[in-house]
Amino acid sequence: MSKSPLFLLFLFLLLLLNVEAKPANFIKTSPSPSKARLRRKISHLHFYFHDIVSGRNPTAVRITQPVNNSLSIFGMISMMDDPLTQGPSPNSTEVGRAQGMYAGAAQDEVGFLQAMNLCFTAGKYNGSVLTVLGRNAPMHPIREMPVIGGSGLFRFANGYALARTHWFDLNTGDATVEYNVTVMHY
Ligand SMILES: *[C@@H]1O[C@H](CO)[C@@H](O)[C@H](O)[C@H]1NC(C)=O
Ligand SMILES: *[C@@H]1O[C@H](CO)[C@@H](O)[C@H](O)[C@H]1NC(C)=O
Ligand SMILES: *[C@@H]1O[C@H](CO)[C@@H](O)[C@H](O)[C@H]1NC(C)=O
Ligand SMILES: *[C@@H]1O[C@H](CO)[C@@H](O)[C@H](O)[C@H]1NC(C)=O
Repeated sequence: MSKSPLFLLFLFLLLLLNVEAKPANFIKTSPSPSKARLRRKISHLHFYFHDIVSGRNPTAVRITQPVNNSLSIFGMISMMDDPLTQGPSPNSTEVGRAQGMYAGAAQDEVGFLQAMNLCFTAGKYNGSVLTVLGRNAPMHPIREMPVIGGSGLFRFANGYALARTHWFDLNTGDATVEYNVTVMHY
């Protein structure tokens, strides 16, 4: 075929169309807002977490059993919807729920992989969530877990959670854990 001007025009149009068809319009990046609008805040949260595994109304249930009767409960997975309260008593004001799971991920000691959403229900934080993903070895006095994100008032959050067992019933396995959470957010 000869390279007639019509053919060249056709090629040119094809090229244009090809450029337009690139899936580049699903993402839009703009410069971040000025410093005045992007003020980073630090929030400290203090609450108690109630993990009830016994009785008629458990808040955490075992999904899988440990492998090989492992003493470190390696392989166990528990799903929880644990109440979070302002004070240490389970009857104290509820401020949210810890929804997620903890799984035996260590073979030489009890060491959980803990993945949970702290879903707040109190006051202006009602509906806001902090997401925690980390290692929780409950036999250690204080455990630190990263806060890897958040939603609602906690958009862009990151920080850490410190957990200490406040009360533990050896017979039932029920526990109350004190949490201090420090997060940076906007
Ligand atoms: C399970 O127990 C057997 C016998 O004690 C042992 O040989 C094996 O290594 C264990 N397996 C795991 C995965 O712990
Ligand atoms: C919580 O309230 C229930 C019912 O009112 C009561 O039976 C229980 O003793 C209370 N628990 C604590 C720790 O105060
Ligand atoms: C939290 O929000 C839910 C849904 O919007 C609402 O039903 C509930 O009453 C609120 N709770 C509090 C304590 O404000
Ligand atoms: C949480 O912070 C309070 C006040 O600073 C402190 O008394 C408590 O020991 C802390 N607990 C944990 C688990 O970090």
